[in-house]
Amino acid sequence: MPDQTTTGAAVAESLTRYEEEHGDPTPAIYARFYAAHPDAEELFGGDTLMPRRMMSEIFATIIDIADGTLDAAHATTWIADHIAYEVTRPMLTTMFAIIVDVMREGLGDAWDRTTESEWTDVMSRWSAAALTAFDEQS
Ligand code: HEM
Repeated sequence: MPDQTTTGAAVAESLTRYEEEHGDPTPAIYARFYAAHPDAEELFGGDTLMPRRMMSEIFATIIDIADGTLDAAHATTWIADHIAYEVTRPMLTTMFAIIVDVMREGLGDAWDRTTESEWTDVMSRWSAAALTAFDEQS
């Protein structure tokens, strides 16, 4: 029998562990995102609920791609709206990178090679699909 280890389990486990140890990662992610792109904060127009909802959608999408429920190539329906909001390509790549950086730093020694490899796999597939859609639609 081949190894039946669930692919993507390390991604979901790391999100749970982060939350148990540090609480919601959303504020840390947006703090870094706005520091890198001060103009991005203005695009939310002072709304605080909407960026939080967006981040929970992002985490749900990451978990679904990781466990195979969702094909990364189909997780791009939000791109057209974001182009209309004037979200830029560099904002997308920054956000994808920051999410992983915050997780990696928060988990510390618990961030093992399997976790790194699963996160890299999910985020590289999702960002490739998102950036391709962005380039095609902008
Ligand atoms: C910086 C300005 C941005 C604005 C104004 C914005 C706005 C929004 C809004 C209004 C939603 C729908 C939220 C809801 O009500 O559930 C959303 C969802 C989402 N955003 Fe953003 N966003 C921004 C940046 C980004 C970036 C940089 C990413 C890169 C990963 C991103 C990825 C997503 C995803 C994946 C969703 C969930 C799918 C959806 O609801 O369509 N957004 N965003």
